[in-house]
Amino acid sequence: MTFEEKFSLYTKMINDGLNNEFKEKDCLQKVVYDAMAYSITAGGKRLRPVLSLAVCDMLGGCIEEALRFGIAVECIHTYSLIHDDLPCMDNDDLRRGMPTCHKKFGEANALLAGDGLLTFAFEYLADFSAYKNVKPETVLRAVFELSKAAGCDGMIGGQVVDLECEGKTDVDEKTLNYLHQRKTGALIRVSALLGALTADADENETKAVTEFAEKLGLAFQIQDDILDCEGDESVLGKPIGSDAENEKTTYVTLLGIETAREKASALTSEAVMALDVFGDKGNFLKELAQRLMGRKS
Ligand code: IPE
Ligand code: IPE
Ligand code: MG
Ligand code: MG
Ligand code: MG
Repeated sequence: MTFEEKFSLYTKMINDGLNNEFKEKDCLQKVVYDAMAYSITAGGKRLRPVLSLAVCDMLGGCIEEALRFGIAVECIHTYSLIHDDLPCMDNDDLRRGMPTCHKKFGEANALLAGDGLLTFAFEYLADFSAYKNVKPETVLRAVFELSKAAGCDGMIGGQVVDLECEGKTDVDEKTLNYLHQRKTGALIRVSALLGALTADADENETKAVTEFAEKLGLAFQIQDDILDCEGDESVLGKPIGSDAENEKTTYVTLLGIETAREKASALTSEAVMALDVFGDKGNFLKELAQRLMGRKS
């Protein structure tokens, strides 16, 4: 299978799964379901669930089982985007090429839609009846790892430090690394880890896969910082210049755009190298990492 064929196979599974879960509901609280479906079916690269599937596949696991784990991460990721765009955070009006959730449904409903996606992620993950071969202890471990990655020493923690640093001129690279590793890196890392869990990976495999994802996560956020400066809004699907408007410290403000690009590229090479232990089986993930370097959206 070519890279493209594999990528479309994974994203089709993910999008079919999401469309199936986020169907229209007829109830008094319909608006929150509509807002959740609006944001999660709006598109997006589906990088995190693709990582779960691809890692599981590489390690010889069953990708149908990894799908549930990957979709749970995508729900948390989408909730983090809805909240990230709120006026009290980055105050952005465009996401995935559409008006942001709060622009469409109002702030209170957007807040609750984020809460809804976060809560649903764990309901979905913990639904034992939906698994065929995943052991209960594996599901429990996934719940634990995902909570940690989404929590105050993970994504939420990174978002807090990101906001704390707004408007400051003395943020150093160590702090920026710390916040990037959490706000973006943690969910990317756990996506890969959950893929490894479904494949019953051993310690060495898990170590290599997490090292890959950690490097990839940081490179991914540096690229995001670059695109915020020089991307094309109609391709990116979100506003350009949001970071400057919010006086964020980013890899671009700290190192300049060229050095930021070199750093992302070096991290990508390190990520790719971490997969050498898997031989040819690592080719899809290696190519994915390389393609993300050149991404425009
Ligand atoms: C955007 O993530 C927020 C970051 C963590 C950089 P993505 O660039 O993966 O957004 P989607 O899911 O494709 O919309
Ligand atoms: C946010 O980083 C990461 C999240 C946890 C959502 P950004 O604020 O840079 O993400 P974008 O650029 O709005 O997608
Ligand atoms: Mg932000
Ligand atoms: Mg933002
Ligand atoms: Mg950004």
